[in-house]
Amino acid sequence: MAQSTTHTLPPPFNSSSTTPKPPLITQGAEALLYKTTYLTPSTPIALKHRPKKSYRHPTLDTRLTKARILAEARVLVKCKREGVVVPAVLGADWEEGWLACEWIEGKTIRAALDGYLKRDVGEEADLRGEGVRGLMGRIGVVLAKLHGIGVVHGDLTTSNLMVRQLEREGDGLESLSLGENREKGLEGEVVIIDFGLATQSVQDEDRAVDLYVLERAFGSTHPQAEGLFEEVLRVYGESYKGAKVVLRRLEDVRLRGRKKSMIG
Ligand SMILES: Nc1ncnc2c1ncn2[C@@H]1O[C@H](COP(=O)(O)OP(=O)(O)O)[C@@H](O)[C@H]1O
Ligand SMILES: [Mg+2]
Repeated sequence: MAQSTTHTLPPPFNSSSTTPKPPLITQGAEALLYKTTYLTPSTPIALKHRPKKSYRHPTLDTRLTKARILAEARVLVKCKREGVVVPAVLGADWEEGWLACEWIEGKTIRAALDGYLKRDVGEEADLRGEGVRGLMGRIGVVLAKLHGIGVVHGDLTTSNLMVRQLEREGDGLESLSLGENREKGLEGEVVIIDFGLATQSVQDEDRAVDLYVLERAFGSTHPQAEGLFEEVLRVYGESYKGAKVVLRRLEDVRLRGRKKSMIG
């Protein structure tokens, strides 16, 4: 977890001096992500702050920030309305540059796969295991739903997909064996986050590129598990009308990607 003291939160999140500064979760190129609370002290939120960029002209900067926050909030609201699992939008202020969303208790797919794949010496990750294949299938379903409502994410990575961990009473992980414990980390609802680059589109090309970006992300963050992505695509292909055409288009996108990497 990146911790920093140099960043200041936007109002009203900067007001109370008695409580400790909320943790900075990540610092992207454009935005800072904090975990804090909003409206009630027991409502945890993900606060995305887009601080003013001094290298940009102030008028342009204000316009860009407003457009991005509104675009992200609108896509999130549309997804929620149409049944795609995303964090709820709780508030936004484009003048101050922030967007507040429901905090998802869980981990990124990246962290979940890391935890599953990082075995102790001598132990092999079972890539055909039901837990991990189930998780891949749920990713396929959620992506199909997203594309099915006419939204393309634009930045699908294993850090922009989360698994919501269900907290159950007496779920003593300590009492489980190592294998079972790992399987547990794969359970839970898949939630799509980070709609900063999302667009509305029903084009096969845009959908195929969306999948290709995630396929590449899988390959680079979890090279041992590249084969797992096939399961994402298999389930995606069966989850909405038009998905099969997108998968055929994906083959073209891959070919172009390969040619490009041979030239460049
Ligand atoms: N609603 C949320 N609940 C829990 N964690 C979140 C939430 N939104 C973001 N995060 C965490 O913060 C990271 C960065 O957030 P993200 O929206 O992807 O911003 P960026 O545009 O900087 O990538 C995510 O990868 C995730 O780990
Ligand atoms: Mg992100």
